[in-house]
Amino acid sequence: MRNTGPITVRKLHPLFGAEVSGIDITRPLSAREFGPIRAAFEEHSVLLFRDQPMDDDKQTAFSENFGPLETTGSSNPAVGTKFQRQSNLDIETGLPIPNDDMRMIYQKANYFWHSDSSFKRIPSLCSMLTARICPPSGGNTEFLCMRAAWDALPPAIKATVEPLVAEHALAYSRDRVQKGILSAKALAELPPVRQRLYRDNPINGRRALYIGAHAGHIVGWPYDTGRALLAELTERAQRPEFILSHEWREGDSIVWDNRAVLHRATAYDTVKHKRLMQRTTIGGDAPTVPQ
Ligand code: OGA
Ligand code: MN
Repeated sequence: MRNTGPITVRKLHPLFGAEVSGIDITRPLSAREFGPIRAAFEEHSVLLFRDQPMDDDKQTAFSENFGPLETTGSSNPAVGTKFQRQSNLDIETGLPIPNDDMRMIYQKANYFWHSDSSFKRIPSLCSMLTARICPPSGGNTEFLCMRAAWDALPPAIKATVEPLVAEHALAYSRDRVQKGILSAKALAELPPVRQRLYRDNPINGRRALYIGAHAGHIVGWPYDTGRALLAELTERAQRPEFILSHEWREGDSIVWDNRAVLHRATAYDTVKHKRLMQRTTIGGDAPTVPQ
């Protein structure tokens, strides 16, 4: 496809999400070509691109239009990788990993609503996930519109939440799967950080509730009271009408705004079927509160 005409943006859900077509994102894009995509991202929070066969280099190049990529796996950028692999396939053999293997257990944290890298001092802007191998059923990714979740909060709760700061850490989400699952090294590399409970979009001012599975408790509150508030906010947010569930096809790419949506993985038959998704994560530009 030559990138000559205007892009088409088709809404996927009354509240958020859009499919962008009429552009080949596997080719390098000029600033002029990328501009409308960035604008659609700020507006719709979740962008789907279909039939765009990706490899790691093409995904890296497209992702970098949004900004510099985060590295994961280590705090040392020299050894960190730009890709987060969501898969049941062993990277060496390509065969399904047994269900009781730690690599599969670790991935179960993705079943909880979360915002990627909210456990980093500067949380990410957005993530891009590309479908390389899809199971015939299951394995959807679900998105939760946190702008709608904010708007639906009663005024008294908004007033309570506005000045609060939550402590986020990778350990909080991983401990839900299995207590103590993170190594001492991983714990030392990722000390807890502070995040405000909302994010304002700098372009259109839309406010989103900012919580998720990495949020552990509220700074300055008794631990259990803070956890209970976070649980209540999550409960209020996860209304069926705020959820967009995406059934993946090979060649799909999705970019989501980690400031404005939470997301989660859903189950599939990991013994019978194969799933391979590659994620890149684009860094944010500032902490949400002084640390
Ligand atoms: C992720 C993630 C969900 C999925 O890549 O950050 O949460 O469905 N993925 O694989
Ligand atoms: Mn994720």
